[in-house]
Amino acid sequence: MTRPDVARADVTDAAARAFAETWGVLPEAVGVAPARANLLGEHTDYNDGFVLPTPLGLWTAVAVGRAERDGGIEALACRLGEKKSRAYGELRQGDWLDYVAGCAAALQARGVELPGLRLAIDSQVPIGAGISSSAALEVATLRALRSLLDLPLGDETLARTAQEAERGYAGMPCGIMDQMVCALGTPGEALFLDTRTLGRQLLPLPQGATFAVVHCGVPHKLTDGGYRQRRAECEKAAELLGVRALRDVGVDELNRLDALPEPLRSRARHVVTENERVERAVEDLRSGDVKAFGRRMVESHRSQRDDFRVSIDEIDTLVEAALACGAWGARLTGGGFGGSMVALVATETLDDWWQRVSALVPRAKWLGRADARPAEIEVNR
Ligand code: GLA
Repeated sequence: MTRPDVARADVTDAAARAFAETWGVLPEAVGVAPARANLLGEHTDYNDGFVLPTPLGLWTAVAVGRAERDGGIEALACRLGEKKSRAYGELRQGDWLDYVAGCAAALQARGVELPGLRLAIDSQVPIGAGISSSAALEVATLRALRSLLDLPLGDETLARTAQEAERGYAGMPCGIMDQMVCALGTPGEALFLDTRTLGRQLLPLPQGATFAVVHCGVPHKLTDGGYRQRRAECEKAAELLGVRALRDVGVDELNRLDALPEPLRSRARHVVTENERVERAVEDLRSGDVKAFGRRMVESHRSQRDDFRVSIDEIDTLVEAALACGAWGARLTGGGFGGSMVALVATETLDDWWQRVSALVPRAKWLGRADARPAEIEVNR
């Protein structure tokens, strides 16, 4: 099993080295941010609901320095072997540079004066895997710029600025989950986030259990229509129900959804039940009931597949294989329409589990894992 557990120091060094090789001077600052796995609470964030993501041990690093000329950015994506430039004020082009240029535009919209910039990016986070390569790039870019320009930007504002970059400049109408966990998450802990208030709590991941993230082999692209359409359907459902957001409908009021036409009824049912699942799963984490947590993951997958309809056959097959090989739970993670599964597996059986899953689904690709911190560290914190 390949475990891409390369330390974040490695991407940081690689980005700094690439910067120096490309521009002949050392970078002035480096920012780094992780990928994320969402454990539960999918498509709830843009409905003002609850989410439960955690950082994954895959990192993106951005090295930055001032350019000789003002007025724009030049950036190198090491692993893609691509160097691109863009003037400030120029529109998005539908490529990776959008996320960097978007951060610059979002800072400028907040009144920050930017010099010309040079950047070098190294990332372990695959694009299109549903583990938030874009938020990792945005948060790493903003951390680098915060340090370069000594910006008084707290982590929550940084996450909001990253979201503005993605929604505004890059044109993807995302929620706030990815940027919040990339900016504020801690490895070994789940971030229980109320996306309406940004109230949050960090909860230790269960001991003896591993959240394994596996790519189904089919990339997703969220700027495609599906995500946008789901979001519009949720907003329409909320409007017809006369609530500010679907968050405002409780599971004890599911009969209210009968007033909605399909597919809005099913879409709303997913969001309402998913919010409830997150709240219950938080209790499972607190009481250490991994099996109950796993059952909620399975319910969440069914709801995503049948009501929200964001899964695809390749993910469903992978989830079934994960469960057949002994996982306590498994579900589509991220925006959907391709991408990855997260499965909850007993750590001592992980190697064996993965061998069996990858034999059943040869196109599946191991991406990463999230585990509790070792118990000794927990005690001494
Ligand atoms: C993407 C978005 C998030 C969230 C998820 C689905 O990752 O960026 O804001 O909506 O999809 O839960």
